[in-house]
Amino acid sequence: MADADLPSGADTTNPADTNPAIEAYFLEERTFPPSEGFKKDALVTGQSMYDEAAEDYRGFWARQALDLIDWYDEWDTILEWDLPFARWFVGGTLNVAYNCLDRHVANGLGDKVAYYWEGEPGDTRTITYAQLLDEVQKFANVLKGMGVTRGDRVAIYMPMIPELPVAMLACTRIGAAHSVVFGGFSSDALRDRINDAEAKVLVTADGGNRRGAVTALKPAADVALADTPSIEHVVVVQRTKNDVEMVDGRDHWYHDVMKDAFPKCEPERMDSEDLLYLLYTSGTTAKPKGIMHTTGGYLTQVAFTHKYVFDLHPDTDVYWCAADIGWVTGHSYIVYGPLANGATSVMYEGTPDCPDKDRWWSIIEKYGVTILYTAPTAIRTFMKWGTQYPEAHDMSSLRLLGSVGEPINPEAWVWYWEHIGGGSCPVVDTWWQTETGAIMISPLPGATTLKPGSATFPLPGISAEVVDDDAKRVDVGGGYLTLTQPWPAMLRGIYGDPERYRDTYWSRFEGRYFAGDGAKLDDDGYLWLLGRVDDVMNVSGHRVSTTEVESALVDHPSVAEAAVVGAKDETTGQAIIAYVTLRGGQEASPERGEELRKHVAVKIGAIARPKTIIFTDDLPKTRSGKIMRRLLRDVAEGRDLGDTTTLADASVVDEIKKRATTSPTEE
Ligand code: WT7
Repeated sequence: MADADLPSGADTTNPADTNPAIEAYFLEERTFPPSEGFKKDALVTGQSMYDEAAEDYRGFWARQALDLIDWYDEWDTILEWDLPFARWFVGGTLNVAYNCLDRHVANGLGDKVAYYWEGEPGDTRTITYAQLLDEVQKFANVLKGMGVTRGDRVAIYMPMIPELPVAMLACTRIGAAHSVVFGGFSSDALRDRINDAEAKVLVTADGGNRRGAVTALKPAADVALADTPSIEHVVVVQRTKNDVEMVDGRDHWYHDVMKDAFPKCEPERMDSEDLLYLLYTSGTTAKPKGIMHTTGGYLTQVAFTHKYVFDLHPDTDVYWCAADIGWVTGHSYIVYGPLANGATSVMYEGTPDCPDKDRWWSIIEKYGVTILYTAPTAIRTFMKWGTQYPEAHDMSSLRLLGSVGEPINPEAWVWYWEHIGGGSCPVVDTWWQTETGAIMISPLPGATTLKPGSATFPLPGISAEVVDDDAKRVDVGGGYLTLTQPWPAMLRGIYGDPERYRDTYWSRFEGRYFAGDGAKLDDDGYLWLLGRVDDVMNVSGHRVSTTEVESALVDHPSVAEAAVVGAKDETTGQAIIAYVTLRGGQEASPERGEELRKHVAVKIGAIARPKTIIFTDDLPKTRSGKIMRRLLRDVAEGRDLGDTTTLADASVVDEIKKRATTSPTEE
């Protein structure tokens, strides 16, 4: 993906280079077949679904679309594939909110709990499908009253409160596309995303609760709103009661506009290929990419994967995906998948250490959670905190565990299995991306023998291959992970930029989608993800572009140049290490480092704040002037340097090595 930015032979030729823990993967030989107890009630226990899908993947997905989703009109054509542009269930019409709400209520499930919501301060709300439907219809009418119609975009910048899924579902009900911007993002990030999408309305909140404090959202939104000409109205949910300024005529309290909202709103009959949402993801240039997801194919695959990967028994399961809805994991596996399947979910506002480090385990005990879906970065944090926290709670309700966001190292997998799952819950390691929309590579827990650290096999209906630099298929060993046939939830493009879509995903290997990840196949055909081969970092399971962080650093008046790398970090997966060259006359100091770290947090968001800033007089570059990030990563991770022959000035690295060992690091 980022090949253009990199010197040849540096970052992409050997994906294993990016993962120094490679030996641990190779040594991992434990296997975990599904237990008889789990198989007894499992939805899938054998190979037949794989075989059926392999025979005719289009027909397979069409059967899932009919089985899992209600359509107003059935499609004429299952798939139109004009590489790289796919159209699924062409001619079919449906409504996502109808599928997530109305049909369940019509089937007598109105009193079933959709969300057990828990606020960080301890306040709770139990929301049934009927209540959610009422609220969504009213808010859909509020949006309509503000002039939002089919095809418009609505920006959403909210904490993890029930009004967030309400706002999303209200958009889908009236055929508007939402663009959820993670509440931890800065004003600048929000502004850029609103402007790229030309959103008409912003839905936000006064603030949210995070680690015992209020995170103000409306004040941050106000800074963005100074420069977002497309926004006509702002709706503000009152959550934290912090002071906010309301602009007359533009800003409205949610509770005010909802009071008189008309309670019924007919769902729009949307085309299968109508835009459902945009979700921005960091790219290799500073401009974030608006990933486009459409309606019928997306809903089909999220419902399918949510049902079969999590072996969902909707009558008895209490499912908890502990992600934030601001990321794709929350879109697909807190909102659309679980609701389409009529599941009962837990939704939690805050952090796992508030008021104490056992908050998650107390939530599991309290609600009798049966399925937990989280990220390796969280698991590693819990490992660091110690087993006394989970041990203090009865978590025997759990029967299945999931992992997503980055490779899970075998140690963390086994810790999760043993200390959270009590040694009796399968762990499904699920590989996918914002772009894939839904899970692609994962075990089916009643059918697949697990290997800790391996995402195992592509799901039925999905086709993945590992290839080498010449796009030749690799049957055993490492290479690049590619997808070889279209899938229903695949991104339909990058908003406003079809060429960038083609270039980014479909140009590295002809006819193949290149995900940007390294992977290897072992002797048994199991897939092992090796991390990203490009220069996008993965911090706590979230992608942060080096270029964006570098741009933010250079934006500071004292900085001349910056190079950023992700270095292996026990807790966050990768930590951001920034090498910074100051402008002449500027002094390097710990205070300056702190100032720069803060600056990045303000420009991009706290997730992108570098852990360490290393001041250096120069950066290692190739003769053509490209920064050699691989060397910087080697330095940051304390490794011996590999090939340095393409380096323009070898003395630079020695200097940087000296600086690296003396720079303070934030813990
Ligand atoms: C990147 C996508 C999918 C929702 C969360 C992140 C990495 C994701 C796994 C996994 C190894 C994984 C990949 C991928 N990733 N899941 N199970 N094993 N790596 O979504 O921000 O779009 O990031 O996350 O590198 O390309 P995203």
